[in-house]
Order: sequence, then structure tokens, then C-alpha cells
Amino acid sequence: MKVSVIGAGNVGSTVANVVAQRNFCKEVVLLDIKEGVSEGKSLDMWEASPIGMYSTRITGVTNDYTATAGSAVTIITSGIPRKPGMSRDDLIGTNAKIVKSVTEQVVKHSPDTIIIVVANPLDVMTYCAYLTAGLPSNRVFGMAGILDTARYRSFLALELGISPTDINALLMGGHGDTMVPLLRYTNVAGIPITELVSKERLDAIVQRTKTGGGEIVKLMGTSAWYAPGAAAAQMAEAIIKDEKRVFPVCAWLDGDYGMKDIYLGVPVILGKGGIEKIIEVDLNEEEKGMLETSAGHVRGVMSVLDDMKLFA
Ligand code: LAC
Repeated sequence: MKVSVIGAGNVGSTVANVVAQRNFCKEVVLLDIKEGVSEGKSLDMWEASPIGMYSTRITGVTNDYTATAGSAVTIITSGIPRKPGMSRDDLIGTNAKIVKSVTEQVVKHSPDTIIIVVANPLDVMTYCAYLTAGLPSNRVFGMAGILDTARYRSFLALELGISPTDINALLMGGHGDTMVPLLRYTNVAGIPITELVSKERLDAIVQRTKTGGGEIVKLMGTSAWYAPGAAAAQMAEAIIKDEKRVFPVCAWLDGDYGMKDIYLGVPVILGKGGIEKIIEVDLNEEEKGMLETSAGHVRGVMSVLDDMKLFA
């Protein structure tokens, strides 16, 4: 089983590293356009294999998509990250063209691959890959929900002084400041979060989660990679191992949650077929309203993609 990672920047190389360390596939191919970068990073990771005790072979290539042929899963991280003061949406002009051309190359060599998009603006770049790939929507989806939920869970763990692994949470919507962390579906080992944390503190944590990506950009001048990379690798693992994990994933909606023709974060079952099922949970009026606001925001960015006429 081969996993290909397109883009050997901070996120791409972290994905490749986590995939290799978790030792669930035979080979990882890391591809970048910059001569020597993916070769060097891959060699460095491979040299760590005797220490990390993994045998996943890591190969780095410069723009040679033949090396990605037959990938079971392809993770697209290509594109530019944001700088302080930018929103994810500001990246569309550059990243849409990159994601389109990368996707064309990917499916040419792996016509049956499953594509996980990580480039921003996430929901619309996933749509861009879908329009390009010609694959069914259960095989083209985006990584955002695992990252956003992980941020939310990590902040709650800090608040309570407990392990983040005991915090279960659901977060839906687009990968932007309109994302929808759902308090009603958040618990600590089964205990509703509202019994453990005050409303005021919960509101502050929800707000911090929504702007969690921006918090990091502000601190270090570019966007995050450890948590995004780990999140994408977790999706690849669920697919390769056919785990049927339940994760929030940026998925194509076709009537689900009363919405159509949009990529949006919703809970799904991930297995060897990619998205095997979208899970529809019951939302109250307020939650539905927040999800619709988030969808409205994503549709606004989709219209920018339409205006670019890349698919005319
Ligand atoms: C973030 C970027 C990767 O949320 O979108 O950190």
C-alpha cells in the first residue's frame, strides 16, 4: 500500500513523517517541485527508521509523478500558507491553480486513488480537487475537522487539567472562523462538558478554537503543521487499515443536512472506500443556523473559484 504526499513543505513533510512513524503502509512518496527538498527530507526520515522502529519506505522525488503511480491514498498539501493578517480565503488565487494542476497529475498516475486535500482555503480547495479529479465524491475529501476538533479538545484538556484523549467532541462546518464546535456533543468520558466547565469558559474556548489557526500564524508568522500533519496522517491510517473511524471530514453534501453541492465538515465513517457514510446527527435550530452561516461563508469562497473560470 502506497501513500503519496504532494508538497514537502512543513505540513507535507510532517504528514509523511507521521505516516512513516505509525508504520501502517509499505511506502510513502513525498513529492515537491523544489529540487532536492523532498529527497533530502525523505532521506532524513528514512535514516530515523532504525530509531523509530518503522519499516515504511520513504521516497522523495522532484515533480516526478510516475513515482506516485498506484497510490491508495494521496494527500495534497501543495500551495502557499497564510501570513499574519491573511485569512485562509486570501490564498485562493494562488492555491486553486496549484491544486488543479497537482490533482490532474495525481489522477493521471493513480486513477483509483483516494484524495485528501489539506491546502487552504480548505473547503473550496477540496471542491477544486473534486472538479478536477473526476472521481466519486466519497474518494475526494478534505482534512480540517480532525485538526479543529483536536484544537478544541486540547484547549478543554488544559482547562480541566485532564488528558485530551478523554475528551470527545463534534465540530462541524467550514475550516474557517465560522466553524461550529458543538457543545451539546462534547463530553469527558461520557460526562457532558456543560457539567464540568462554566458557560463563560466554554464560550471562550469555542472562540479560541475558531481562531486557533490564526493564533498560531500570529505567533510564528506562518501557519501550523504539527497538528495539521498528524490529522491528515490519521485519516490516511483509517483508510489504509479500513478502520471505520468516525471523524469530522470536509465532505461533499448531496442532501445531507439539507444541503447540496457543497463541501463542508460533517461526521463520516472512514474506511478503505474513503467516506463510507455521512452521519447525520440531530441539530437544534441554533446549531442548524450556525451550520448554515458557515455554509454561506464557504459558498462565498466557492463563487470566487467560479469567477476564476478554471473549469469553464
Ligand atoms: C490551520 C491551517 C492549516 O488551521 O489551516 O492551522
